[in-house]
Amino acid sequence: MKKNIAYMLFIPLVFSSLYAKDYSGEKLFKEYCWGCHHQTAQAFGPSFESIANKRSKVQIIAQIADPNNTYKTLGYKINSMPSFDDLNAKELQALADYIYKFKDKK
Ligand code: HEC
Repeated sequence: MKKNIAYMLFIPLVFSSLYAKDYSGEKLFKEYCWGCHHQTAQAFGPSFESIANKRSKVQIIAQIADPNNTYKTLGYKINSMPSFDDLNAKELQALADYIYKFKDKK
């Protein structure tokens, strides 16, 4: 019985740590953004460094979730980015935090 209790405590721990990993901004970036954005170099889209230097996290999150609604405010004539409206709030926050890692430290 003691063993069972230990497993009952252990299994959720393992799962929650796996689950937590899904919210790594770097992992999300590699999975969803890397084809068009690079960390510090211009690719099809602007680099995360340049984005972090000119936008707030709120603007970044809005753009990822619904670029069709934000591209004009950000100064683009057309939107070439897909919307990632299936990402949850934590994932969007993790991506914004990750992008902000490349902000110039001045
Ligand atoms: C199919 C290519 C593509 C993918 C995939 C993509 N983007 Fe973009 N993104 C662009 C382009 C191109 C722009 C520039 C605006 C435009 O032309 O629509 C842009 C613009 C942005 C901007 C606003 C830039 C600014 O001027 O502030 C942010 C923030 C951004 N992308 C974040 C992301 C994140 C985070 C992901 C991954 C979840 C992602 N993008 C995935 C192509 C892409």
